[in-house]
Amino acid sequence: MAYLTDVQKMINVILDNLKNISRQVDCAIACISGGVDSTVSAILAQRALGEKIYPIFIDTGFMRINEAVNVARTLSELVKIEVYDFSEEFISRLEGIEDAEEKRIVFRDLFYRSVKKIADEKSCSWIVQGTIKADVDETRRGVKTQHNVLNSDLIAKYGLNVIEPLINLYKHEVRALAKYLGLPRFISERQPFPGPGLLIRTVGKLNRKKLELVKKLTSIVENALGDKGYSQYFPAVWEHNIIESSNVKDIEFDVYEVKVTGVSEGNRSYGHPVVVNRWPTDVDIYDLYKYFDTLRNPHILVKLAERNNGLYLVALRIVKTENFMVAEVPRMNLNELKTLANEILENSEVRAVAFDITPKPPATIEYE
Ligand code: XMP
Repeated sequence: MAYLTDVQKMINVILDNLKNISRQVDCAIACISGGVDSTVSAILAQRALGEKIYPIFIDTGFMRINEAVNVARTLSELVKIEVYDFSEEFISRLEGIEDAEEKRIVFRDLFYRSVKKIADEKSCSWIVQGTIKADVDETRRGVKTQHNVLNSDLIAKYGLNVIEPLINLYKHEVRALAKYLGLPRFISERQPFPGPGLLIRTVGKLNRKKLELVKKLTSIVENALGDKGYSQYFPAVWEHNIIESSNVKDIEFDVYEVKVTGVSEGNRSYGHPVVVNRWPTDVDIYDLYKYFDTLRNPHILVKLAERNNGLYLVALRIVKTENFMVAEVPRMNLNELKTLANEILENSEVRAVAFDITPKPPATIEYE
């Protein structure tokens, strides 16, 4: 009972804050991505500000297969969402860009330009978004440019006023709110999906073929690992280009050309991932990352399956975490993972599949 009261109190504070700004708000675009944060924000904003709120979904081209339709349908009893398809614009502008931070910055620019266009069409000067406390903490610490964290210069640049109802909450608190508001489990318990979506899981230079592969593999991995209690579980794809093959203390490994992100003493690091092919039986695979300089090699993976041709390496990322600032890799049944890896290997573009055993820190959850 005490738990419900706390949640109700949180909701009342948010609704009061929203009502306090109501007179300043002409109308607001509420960007829903299908994740719990943006959905709860939009629903609370609508409760406080009623018809001044326009819930929308922007298809950036980096969403899961059928995401827009699935989200709009799942939420149809709670909010009516208008879907805008900007996918071609996003993909053609981002094609060929390689650097992780540049991808995020270009994505953010496209995203807010699109939002601004919609806001102008509806003569609204406000937007509602689901930024939570961890997003702000990590962007301020320089771990990455989170697409939805705007400083005052950016707010001025896009000419939009921002409402962020959940800015003081962490993810587990937002989930509690979602359950209380009666959101379906599909949303309330959904694993986080980064704003730039599959763009940052198509690691390295973006091309359409790689993006299509990531989309297809995302369905396979989510179907196989869903509802097992993991906080996040997803595939990422990069070119199978090896720049060094070596060994250290009988651990045989390949270093890949692509660059991926990590965190070192609270700051972002950017280096080459390592895939371990063989290791001594007395070394616990979850300790393998301790044998590497994770500043240079932020993600350490172990190979699960391989064949002789195909262009891409598929990384399987599975983590457990409460606050997403630190995360651990759960102990997995490796035989089950190998079965999944073999299913992934049936895609002719895939050359190898590897399991990421690096906690955060020193790695990030995502690769870019
Ligand atoms: P990292 O990779 O930094 O991710 O350890 C921490 C959490 O944040 C998610 N993430 C994002 N979420 N916009 C978001 O809304 C973003 O730009 C973004 N980048 C990462 C990530 O999936 C994980 O849950």
